[in-house]
Amino acid sequence: MSVTYFKRFRMEIDLVRGRFAAPELPAGYALVAWSPDLLAIHAEVKHASFREEIDAHVFPCLGNFSGCLRLMDEICRKARFLPDATWLAAFRHPNGEREYCGTISAVLDPANHGAIQNIGVTPAHRGCGIGTALLLKALAGFQLSGLRRAYLEVTAQNVDAVRLYQRIGFRRTRTSYKAVENAASLV
Ligand SMILES: CC(C)(COP(=O)(O)OP(=O)(O)OC[C@H]1O[C@@H](n2cnc3c(N)ncnc32)[C@H](O)[C@@H]1OP(=O)(O)O)[C@@H](O)C(=O)NCCC(=O)NCCS
Repeated sequence: MSVTYFKRFRMEIDLVRGRFAAPELPAGYALVAWSPDLLAIHAEVKHASFREEIDAHVFPCLGNFSGCLRLMDEICRKARFLPDATWLAAFRHPNGEREYCGTISAVLDPANHGAIQNIGVTPAHRGCGIGTALLLKALAGFQLSGLRRAYLEVTAQNVDAVRLYQRIGFRRTRTSYKAVENAASLV
C-alpha cells in the first residue's frame, strides 16, 4: 500500500467589508436556488465536474455518482446546512433543453463561519464566469445569513481554483496535508 500526501490550503474571506454582487451571466445561463428536489441534480453536476480532476483522487467519493449523492445528502441534512449559499447553474440550449452545469453548496461551521463544501463547473462550461458567479452568489447568501467570515479548502495543485478564489478575495490562512492511500498513479 502506498500513501500520497496532498497539500491543501485553507482560504478565508472577510464578509463584512466585501460586496459580492453576482456578475451578469453569459447569454443562456441562469442560477437556480436550492430546493430538496434538486439534490440528485447537484450530485450529478458534482460528479461531472470532479470525476476527471485532482480532487476525485483526494476524495474518492467525488469520482463516482453514488459517492456524490451520498455527500450531497449528508450536506443538506446537516442542521447547519445553508440553502441561501447553495446554488446550481443551468444553461438553456437554443432548442430549449436545460443542462445543469455548475454546483455550489455550503454549511455553517461551529464558529459561525460559512464553509463552502464543493464548487464545480462541468468541463464544457468552464472559463466563462460560471464558477465566479456561483461563488459570489454563495458569499452573498452568507451575508444574507449575517455571517462575518467564510472559508474553503483547496488542493494546492488545483491552480485554476486557487486563482479563482484569490481573484475574488480569499487569502491563504493555513496549509495542511491529506494522506490518501493508493493514489500514486496520479502524481
Ligand atoms: C474551479 C472551477 C469551479 C472554476 O470554474 P469556472 O466556471 O471555469 O470559473 P470562471 O469561468 O469564473 O473563471 C475561470 C477563468 O475564466 C475567466 N473568465 C471568467 N469569465 C469569462 C468570460 N466571460 N470570458 C472569458 N474568460 C472568463 C476568469 O477570469 C478566470 O480566469 P483566471 O483562471 O485567469 O482567473 C472549475 O475549473 C472546476 O469545476 N474545476 C473542477 C472542480 C474543482 O476542482 N473545484 C474546486 C474544488 S476546491
